[in-house]
Amino acid sequence: MPADISADAAGTWKLGDFSINRLGFGAMRITANPDRDLAIRVLRRAVELGVNHIDTAAFYRSPGGTLGVGEGPVRYANELIRDAFSPYPDGLVITTKVGPGEDPERGFHNAATPAELRAQVEENLRQLGKDQLDVVNLRIIKKAGADSVAERFAALAELQTEGLIRHLGLSNVRADHLDEAEAIAPVVCVQNSYALDTHRDDDTFLRNCGERGVAYVPFFAIAGPAREGTATTDHSDAVRRLAAAKGVSEQQIRLAWTLHQGPNVLAIPGTGNPAHLEQNIAAGAIQLSADELATLV
Ligand SMILES: NC(=O)c1ccc[n+]([C@@H]2O[C@H](COP(=O)([O-])OP(=O)(O)OC[C@H]3O[C@@H](n4cnc5c(N)ncnc54)[C@H](OP(=O)(O)O)[C@@H]3O)[C@@H](O)[C@H]2O)c1
Repeated sequence: MPADISADAAGTWKLGDFSINRLGFGAMRITANPDRDLAIRVLRRAVELGVNHIDTAAFYRSPGGTLGVGEGPVRYANELIRDAFSPYPDGLVITTKVGPGEDPERGFHNAATPAELRAQVEENLRQLGKDQLDVVNLRIIKKAGADSVAERFAALAELQTEGLIRHLGLSNVRADHLDEAEAIAPVVCVQNSYALDTHRDDDTFLRNCGERGVAYVPFFAIAGPAREGTATTDHSDAVRRLAAAKGVSEQQIRLAWTLHQGPNVLAIPGTGNPAHLEQNIAAGAIQLSADELATLV
């Protein structure tokens, strides 16, 4: 691993009025290991290496459950982030998401009402120890004919007007959702599941976001079809060959590929492993030629 790895190697992007390095960090995996100090170390190391964009959610926690990976005492990603950084250094942007919720009647759901969205924003503020959330994504479930974001996005826009949120984004959406939301308030980012081998039907939407000045932020770029499970090992021969030729890992090639899909693409790889963290940040410096990219399609 080069000694001088830095998250600024892949360049920067303007997320609203925040300037961030394109290579960021996803906090969903930091609750997987019961070692709380390790999670804090990973978070701090990410920032030490130049990461200034961290993705999180109030529902990223341990143990068990749909999104609570790991075992042992409950650890919330937001609280680990607060403990690692508060008072927050200037320029560290924390993006969170609302929409999914959990209650005894509905179990884990993705149907927060406008009133529940306010409670979720307040919960994020409390857990993170902030007065204002930097970026809040409205995360939805796509359901043909019944997935308008208008009412929920308007509720978040109201919280933005009140000063609780700086910038708004969307997650798990299509182009028509972005149209709907942008008619209500500016959208700085779209966060969707997307990778070399996953949801390539988003290729056009990704470019369309770029034309509109909207960041496209893939999740599961490394995990791919394995989703919340451990990262896929089902790499194509082309990925394996390129990784071997460049002396990097297949996971690094997957990340580098996403960053080459457009200047508006941000990376938020998730890991609880310090060695993986360094590899992921180093992936921001991997240059892929047009010929190399063509082999990966
Ligand atoms: N908007 C949404 O609905 C949504 C949904 C899911 C996730 N997210 C966000 O997106 C972020 C990224 O998604 P993700 O964390 O699920 O998936 P990911 O970053 O694509 O992959 C994470 C998986 O890959 C492993 N991994 C990471 N770096 C590696 C490396 N260099 N070599 C080998 N294995 C590596 C991790 O295990 P180790 O911990 O062992 O490294 C983990 O199993 C999340 O952290 C979260 O912030 C958003």
